[in-house]
Amino acid sequence: MLAKDGFSVTPKGKTGLGRFFLMEKMTAGFNKNSRDWKYTLVIPKGSIFDVSDAQNSKGMVFCYECHMAVKEEQDSIMFLPEEYRAK
Ligand code: HEC
Repeated sequence: MLAKDGFSVTPKGKTGLGRFFLMEKMTAGFNKNSRDWKYTLVIPKGSIFDVSDAQNSKGMVFCYECHMAVKEEQDSIMFLPEEYRAK
């Protein structure tokens, strides 16, 4: 399971809560279009968007449409190249 937090910044420099992004590797066959990753989005008010809710399910397609753009051996993960990571 991978998680990424987020925050918002207003033009006046005020910071606030942002969205929380999750990726969970499921068993083979879960969804070949997403390379079996399940994408979930949690917005600050507490609403959860993921594929378990039929209504939001289609809304998550854009997550993997972008994440599938990386090379196959990266398995949809978008980590920064090593030389740019904090040591
Ligand atoms: C337009 C392209 C794009 C879309 C759409 C997108 N992502 Fe990402 N995602 C990225 C990039 C680029 C990174 C790495 C940079 C960063 O962390 O911001 C990333 C990083 C992540 C990470 C951290 C693990 C990693 O791969 O580095 C998670 C978890 C994640 N995204 C989940 C989601 C979810 C959930 C959605 C849909 C709600 C989503 N992403 C939609 C481009 C995208």
